[in-house]
Amino acid sequence: MRLEDVPLAERLTAEAYYELDTRTFPPSWPAPVLRPTSRSDGWIARTTHVLTTDPSGCWVAEDETGLLGVAVSLRRELLWALSSFAVRPGLQGQGIGRPLLEAALQHSRGCLRGMLSASTDPKAVRRYAAAGFRLHPQMFLHGTVDRSTLPLIEKVRDGGAADLELMDSIDRRTRGAAHGPDHRLLLSTARLQVSDTSTGSGYVYSAPGGEPALLAATNRRTAARLLWAVLADAAGQVTLAHVTAANDWAVDVGMAARLDLHQGGYLALRGMKPPAPYVHHGALL
Ligand SMILES: CC(C)(COP(=O)(O)OP(=O)(O)OC[C@H]1O[C@@H](n2cnc3c(N)ncnc32)[C@H](O)[C@@H]1OP(=O)(O)O)[C@@H](O)C(=O)NCCC(=O)NCCS
Repeated sequence: MRLEDVPLAERLTAEAYYELDTRTFPPSWPAPVLRPTSRSDGWIARTTHVLTTDPSGCWVAEDETGLLGVAVSLRRELLWALSSFAVRPGLQGQGIGRPLLEAALQHSRGCLRGMLSASTDPKAVRRYAAAGFRLHPQMFLHGTVDRSTLPLIEKVRDGGAADLELMDSIDRRTRGAAHGPDHRLLLSTARLQVSDTSTGSGYVYSAPGGEPALLAATNRRTAARLLWAVLADAAGQVTLAHVTAANDWAVDVGMAARLDLHQGGYLALRGMKPPAPYVHHGALL
């Protein structure tokens, strides 16, 4: 992948996920939408960041008609993570994805740990299983927070660059590898809240509107406190995505806030157990 491919890869992935959503979403759900420009900018910034830190983890397939597929992956310490993987709708299931994923997996050489957030597409899941990943079903909670359920939020403060080492330490303990440079990217695009007491430490990034994007903590009590802090700021409908069964504390918080519980996709892991207390980032894991 080259820098000039990134905007084209953004459109290709948006179209592939939109086509997947229209194929798989239950009719009772709101109609899927193509990724809006506001989120495209985030995708482009994140992928440019990954291409800069991990040029040999990022691959495209192309022919004379243009871009056919894309695989974006990164290494953080000895953990490999797949950030994005898609083939142009209409060309899927014909063997384009396989060599793309194999190329990205070359970048995982020497890493025992591997992590990715998988869609529900059976073709994707087949590729990941073939590459030795175990599939852990993900839940998500969605709805409007019932503000009468909010507890008193204590021992949570806004975070910043001074928390980078603390966050890397919490990452190593929960998922076995620090996010390193990804924290600087997240700091520039999301709100960071930190809880750091004598009994436990943790952090959470959230998007505007109170959607948790990445949460890690040394114990469940701290994790729950941080999740409540984000939900307290939620405006309108909120989604808490990427909850594995190992993180039932997050289900407890979401249920208590009167959100609805659903299932969707998998956390695919190689050489590691589902991190906890942890809610992974969809693309930076
Ligand atoms: C996931 C994706 C990138 C894979 O690329 P691809 O070119 O379709 O993959 P391949 O053709 O190389 O491999 C697909 C596998 O699924 C199988 N397959 C093909 N059509 C299928 C279908 N309708 N249902 C289930 N399996 C199918 C193929 O036989 C192949 O398995 P095999 O190698 O064991 O025979 C692509 O399908 C895609 O973009 N999906 C939508 C976006 C998405 O979900 N991305 C993953 C995000 S985590």
